[in-house]
Amino acid sequence: MPASLSAIDTAKFVAAKRACQFVESGMRVGLGTGSTAAWLVRCLGDMVEQDGLRITGVPTSTRTADLAREVGIEIATLDEAKWLDITIDGADEFDPELNLIKGGGGALLQEKIVATASDRMIVIADRTKQVDTLGAFPLPVEIIPFGWQTTKALLEETITALDVVGEKVTLRMDGPAPFVTDEGNHIVDLHLGRIGNARQMALILNQIPGVVENGLFIDICDITVIGNADGRVQVKDINQGTTEEDFIAFEEEENIFVDLDG
Ligand code: A5P
Repeated sequence: MPASLSAIDTAKFVAAKRACQFVESGMRVGLGTGSTAAWLVRCLGDMVEQDGLRITGVPTSTRTADLAREVGIEIATLDEAKWLDITIDGADEFDPELNLIKGGGGALLQEKIVATASDRMIVIADRTKQVDTLGAFPLPVEIIPFGWQTTKALLEETITALDVVGEKVTLRMDGPAPFVTDEGNHIVDLHLGRIGNARQMALILNQIPGVVENGLFIDICDITVIGNADGRVQVKDINQGTTEEDFIAFEEEENIFVDLDG
């Protein structure tokens, strides 16, 4: 392992590396967005180059599409691929039922569409993403630019009636201007502290005009792969009701550590 790789990056890398074992030649694979998913894309690129893996990747953001091309993964749009064998992505939080908060990187809309169009969704993460109850991480909600202040006000009003401990809503910024998603929308972050009923919240938020999608992924994730800095990996399958421990040796993987940009 290169000395420059942090403990958290090592944990993300071993989770990504283990998740690659679910990928077989011929598969259509949803490629997530974020720093953990970037490790996955690099690992898959390495398998394409070194092992002759043949896959079609469906990226969930322009960032991921750029990285996939860079590492030699053949990519397609979701409309071209239509249905996917598997999607592998990171998460901002996951609970014991494998419900998720996603969208910290602003790609939740494409991520949710792609994950839902997959036979299986696998989340790769380090241990810091594991929580008992969702909500410490601000919940991203994608909203259309038209009337965004009205939509934000409606969101503020709506969450006061829900089982949460915080009620602040902030427009996500990109420097001096509002953040713009790949779909041309904005993101508001709901600082809720704790979400008592995530399933109910996911349904209610999407009923507000102006809301495109929220970052709660309910009953979408099938498997979590949690990495540790020492190479240990835990694989939890919610459908099988199994949790397995594994170990990933990473000393031989140095070729993918070149030109890291997260
Ligand atoms: C992107 O919009 C997000 O859903 C990411 O998947 C999530 O924020 C996890 O990102 P990291 O792997 O960088 O923590």
